[in-house]
Amino acid sequence: MKKTAIAPANIAFIKYWGKKDEELRLPETGSISMSLDHCLTTTTVEFDKQYSHDLFYYGLELAPPQESARVFEHLDRIRDRASVAHYAKVVTQNSFPKGSGNASSASGFAALTVAAAAAAGLSLSEKELSILARIGSGSACRSIPEGFVEWIEGNDSETSYARCLYPCSYWDLTDVLVIVDSSCKKVGSSQGHTASKQSIFHAPRIHEVRKLLPQMKNAFEKKDFRQLGELIEKDTIYMHAVMMSSTPPIYYWNAGTMAVIQAVCDLREEGTLAYFSIDAGPNVHVICEGKNAHSIDQKLKTISGVYSTIINKPAERAHIVNNHLF
Ligand code: DP6
Repeated sequence: MKKTAIAPANIAFIKYWGKKDEELRLPETGSISMSLDHCLTTTTVEFDKQYSHDLFYYGLELAPPQESARVFEHLDRIRDRASVAHYAKVVTQNSFPKGSGNASSASGFAALTVAAAAAAGLSLSEKELSILARIGSGSACRSIPEGFVEWIEGNDSETSYARCLYPCSYWDLTDVLVIVDSSCKKVGSSQGHTASKQSIFHAPRIHEVRKLLPQMKNAFEKKDFRQLGELIEKDTIYMHAVMMSSTPPIYYWNAGTMAVIQAVCDLREEGTLAYFSIDAGPNVHVICEGKNAHSIDQKLKTISGVYSTIINKPAERAHIVNNHLF
């Protein structure tokens, strides 16, 4: 009853911000993302009678109680479904900085779902895994399928899940993730989702996002990078306007974030197409065409306030591997 899974983080091109059901994590709108092949979480889960309670480690370190509680609740869901009575040991490892708006909860809950379901002996479809991952962390449902992914809003738990919109090979896009701060964020996204309802921009944003979704699908269909990029930036700004105008306000950006945004605008003025996207943290995802990724990466690395970059292509789906972490 020991299995290991790898799942990619994802960057939302159209973002999930606001829930219509907090417990089931049903989103107020659909969303679209790209899975990231160099931002991976590996998780090993073992259910066994030797454990007298659940254990959750980041590598060799025991995780803090608040984070463990959410993982243990997720194990309970899987145990109930599989009629497994044993406690579990969970060990997880990220290939990228955790908790700084780099979607570690997405890859984390996706890897946990795939590993725990398999360790419990469940044989679930991609859709079922996506639904289960969503209840752990909303954006995790988009880290189950491969490539470019759509989370269908749905109106109940069974109809709200993610599916592959296009496979990795469909479009040679790159996400240069620019790290301007790798410490843990002060306001977690679950808290932010709830606070968003207080913003006067919340309702108009939901209205606009419903229009952006079909426009983005159209940009994908035509492989129109300029259209795609403009929609990505619009969506990011709408979400951060809601965050900054929530009660209390949430400011995720720092000076490095602004410097990268400015550099992206400069690149476009010089004729190189690149667009920014920012999740619930200060780090910036710079989306570009594969042919420009290297030169853009070199330029971004020279900005003061930038610690490092991670170059991501679209990733394969979350999957089981044979090498365990313990
Ligand atoms: C800004 O999925 O982390 O990254 O469902 O409460 O776990 P919970 O929230 P989470 O929210 C992600 C927010 C986002 C946008 C996105 O990925 O769509």
